[in-house]
Amino acid sequence: MLTNILIWVVVLLLTVAAGGLTWRAVRAQRRWVKIAGGIGAGLLTLLLAALTFFGGKGIQMAYFPGAPEPPRLVAEGTPEQIARGDYLVNLNCIGCHSAVGAEGMPTEEHPLNGGWNISQAEGFGFVGDLVAENLTPGGKLANYTDAEIFRVMRHRVTKEGHLSVFMSLLPVNEYSDDDVLSIIAYLRTLSPVEQSVVTGDKLSFLGGIMFGAGMFGTPAEGAPTVTAPPQGVTAEYGKYVATFAECRGCHGPNVTGAPASPAGPAVPNPRPLVGTLTFEQFQTMMQTGVKPDGNPFPDTMPWTIASRLTDDDLAALYAYLTTEP
Ligand code: HEC
Ligand code: HEC
Repeated sequence: MLTNILIWVVVLLLTVAAGGLTWRAVRAQRRWVKIAGGIGAGLLTLLLAALTFFGGKGIQMAYFPGAPEPPRLVAEGTPEQIARGDYLVNLNCIGCHSAVGAEGMPTEEHPLNGGWNISQAEGFGFVGDLVAENLTPGGKLANYTDAEIFRVMRHRVTKEGHLSVFMSLLPVNEYSDDDVLSIIAYLRTLSPVEQSVVTGDKLSFLGGIMFGAGMFGTPAEGAPTVTAPPQGVTAEYGKYVATFAECRGCHGPNVTGAPASPAGPAVPNPRPLVGTLTFEQFQTMMQTGVKPDGNPFPDTMPWTIASRLTDDDLAALYAYLTTEP
């Protein structure tokens, strides 16, 4: 954080210096200095001013997001909560927060001690390090209250009040209050496992500028309370399944596709394909990772998440994807 603020101050000073240079150039006696110098120094000033503006905005968003107080609540840890949390965490969170395997990718196996450097692994390391947290009580969550973990999920703010940058781009703010409490209850039951890799965010100044310029999307606000639609095989609940099964995190808020960003290429709209399938074909595709035309999903499409859904949740997801968004 301090390094980025220092770089920002330097860029700000350079902007002022370039502004001064522009001023001197346009008041120069010689015509060519006036024109060439004025344009050159003027463009440089504009560029530096843009870097100052977006860098400053990124710094503000990342380090001073204006965190609300953690709500007053505790996860009771009932058997129902723990079972629900088990389902949700091992469906989605495990895809990023599990231990890292030999190829530098998450194993999707326990322990959930994190350490996966997503930005480096996925080719956008220039934004800095975004390293998945250790979710077991062997990591920093042991020092978080239930309310503080709740606040991470709903407002994507760490204990210190900084933005949890990567989490802020996932629709985890739309998990219901009950589901967040279940997740907390479950995480508390895990055996503590340590992690030697430093977890969390270390945004580069360039990452701050790109984040401030909205190149990765804008973090959505979290509502004070969120209630899930009634559980059932309905399109409405299917949208909620698309939230906790992470489809909306990649395929866009309405699962109609998402444009390219510096973090990766565009993600297609799956609805045209799903609309041509029966539920049985959809189920087979999502459980085997092979499309009806015989082509497997590439690695960029984490179908294993869907393969862990219950039949009813998969049916609700199918209902949602075959209904007008
Ligand atoms: C697509 C990858 C991804 C998924 C899915 C994901 N996380 Fe994260 N999570 C991260 C990364 C990366 C960080 C490190 C901080 C950051 O960049 O947000 C993180 C950080 C966290 C933190 C620590 C925030 C802090 O205070 O420093 C918690 C708690 C957390 N995640 C919980 C969860 C839970 C619970 C789920 C499932 C509901 C989940 N995450 C799903 C990638 C992910
Ligand atoms: C980590 C990002 C990510 C997540 C999460 C994700 N997808 Fe995808 N999905 C992709 C990408 C990328 C492709 C395109 C792969 C390719 O190049 O063919 C894709 C392709 C698909 C396709 C094939 C589309 C076609 O016309 O070939 C379907 C269907 C699909 N996804 C459904 C889902 C569903 C349902 C979920 C939630 C359970 C989901 N995806 C979650 C990234 C994601």
